[in-house]
Amino acid sequence: MAEFKLPANSTIGEGKTYKAPAGAKRVKAFKVYRWNPDDGKNPVMDTYEIDLDKCGPMVLDAIVKIKNEIDSTLTFRRSCREGICGSCAMNIDGANTLACLKPIDDVKGDVSIHPLPHMPVVKDLVPDLSQPYAQYRSIEPWLQAETAPPPDAERLQSKEERAELDGLWECILCFCCSTSCPSYWWNGDRYLGPAVLMAAYRWIADSRDEATGKRLDALEDPFKLYRCHTIMNCTQTCPKGLNPAKAIGKVKQMMLERQG
Ligand code: SF4
Ligand code: SF4
Ligand code: FES
Repeated sequence: MAEFKLPANSTIGEGKTYKAPAGAKRVKAFKVYRWNPDDGKNPVMDTYEIDLDKCGPMVLDAIVKIKNEIDSTLTFRRSCREGICGSCAMNIDGANTLACLKPIDDVKGDVSIHPLPHMPVVKDLVPDLSQPYAQYRSIEPWLQAETAPPPDAERLQSKEERAELDGLWECILCFCCSTSCPSYWWNGDRYLGPAVLMAAYRWIADSRDEATGKRLDALEDPFKLYRCHTIMNCTQTCPKGLNPAKAIGKVKQMMLERQG
């Protein structure tokens, strides 16, 4: 995948270098984006040399080690450390991924780490995800049905109906896909982006949901859906191996079918 370009107006200088301890044999340099909204300075890349013999195997292990042992000011999100919560999404070695699922050994040479691209930065590696979360809220991501459920029973699905949701429900809303999508970079205020569109399709495809028409009506818009130009960055980058571009294609197909 192509390296993501940083915004043209962002000047990133060289920051501090923290040397590996004397005697370290397997040293790897981690170049990490640092920006503090409170000091009025431009962002810099700090370099942390880590002894891999004293570090866990994943990039998140190195980041946690930096914070715990070298520089407690480094700011990032993480929670589950096993690819479930989506909070450690960042740009590592030029691609958006989850730091907890990215083996250090997968990166040849220095490991460069930036926040998810084209999002406002709160601090260091923490992006402001207010926009995609508001867009997620806008697609009403819950089951909607006028028909009452059977008394004393759940709303049942056949195995085939349930299988329609496979590849959709696994999304952890890390937004690696949306922030790798050029259409979302340029029109993110109006285009919903792959993560939110796949979430919309997850409810459209649910046999128990009765709001399909309303959901499709809400997406019938030159920007919300049709800014997807099938560039496929989203599917290439998804750290959960999902295919948001395919889900978007299915929504477009349903739009065509109902136009007759
Ligand atoms: S397929 Fe659509 S959503 Fe995915 S990266 Fe391309 S334009 Fe963006
Ligand atoms: S589709 Fe993949 S990359 Fe996109 S938000 Fe879901 S898990 Fe993350
Ligand atoms: S820490 Fe939860 S996905 Fe990485």
